[in-house]
Amino acid sequence: MVEKFLEGKGALITGGASGFGRSAALEFAKRGANLVLVDINEELLEETTRNIETETNQKVVPIICDVSDSNQVKKMGKQAFEELENLYVLFNNAGIGPAAGKSIIRINERDWDLTFNVNLKGQWLVSKFLSPKMRRQNIEPLSGKIIHTASIAGMDMDPMIPAYSISKSGIIGLVQLLAKELAPNVTVNAVSPGYHVTGIYANSEDTMVQTMKMGNVKTPLNRLGTIKDIVDVVLFLASSASDFITGHNFPVDGGIAEVGVPASYLKSDF
Ligand SMILES: NC(=O)c1ccc[n+]([C@@H]2O[C@H](COP(=O)([O-])OP(=O)(O)OC[C@H]3O[C@@H](n4cnc5c(N)ncnc54)[C@H](O)[C@@H]3O)[C@@H](O)[C@H]2O)c1
Repeated sequence: MVEKFLEGKGALITGGASGFGRSAALEFAKRGANLVLVDINEELLEETTRNIETETNQKVVPIICDVSDSNQVKKMGKQAFEELENLYVLFNNAGIGPAAGKSIIRINERDWDLTFNVNLKGQWLVSKFLSPKMRRQNIEPLSGKIIHTASIAGMDMDPMIPAYSISKSGIIGLVQLLAKELAPNVTVNAVSPGYHVTGIYANSEDTMVQTMKMGNVKTPLNRLGTIKDIVDVVLFLASSASDFITGHNFPVDGGIAEVGVPASYLKSDF
């Protein structure tokens, strides 16, 4: 039995059809939340919605929305507040990782713009349009919790994915500013995943391990990251256990980003 600490609360998850978003959505629903799932992948969104509804009996509302388009985000926000009794948790998570392998000089303008529009502008738009109502909700002691998805690439710039890295460092900055602006009503934090098999790696462990090898990545905790590793921290940030934490970024990467030891010195298979 899981503790239903989200009973009577609403949660909105962007990128909710796949990967971290889908898994977090299921865990939120198991803890009693009603959900709005936002994604651009219509087929996957429908499948995820059906699965979570069947497994948990919670209300799950799918909304197709491109988070990089302000008109779509405004419309999505309006519908979300109509569908949910409140919006207590916002998991602002949608993101993409195009143009891997092109250096900061070689990356083209199209890939640069696409990456920034979805990863940075998209997460900014979603918090910009949803947070004003979240902060006015009559829920004590906090009226809401926002969790963004950054990346360890945003902490330690990865030359293989330059636009992605800079967009994710922007998320860490965004979180600091949002946290100050929305205090003391709403907490705003980020989770920074390392390497975890999701849609971003075409759901293939081989593809991900190849990417890690290309970057000579070594993981001090000597295993691959899982989706659960991330969702456990997201659940913590959605729970009252984190009520005194705002403006922070939580790397969840087996020690890759912070270890400060050259990768080649580590005894690690991954
Ligand atoms: N998987 C990893 O190892 C890893 C590492 C660091 C950061 N991240 C970040 O995690 C977040 C979630 O990605 P994931 O790994 O679960 O991958 P994923 O591809 O499984 O999920 C991302 C979801 O976002 C949706 N999406 C993409 N563009 C969108 C848009 N414009 N509007 C709305 N939805 C859109 C996709 O359709 C997909 O369902 C992303 O922000 C990603 O950058 C992932």
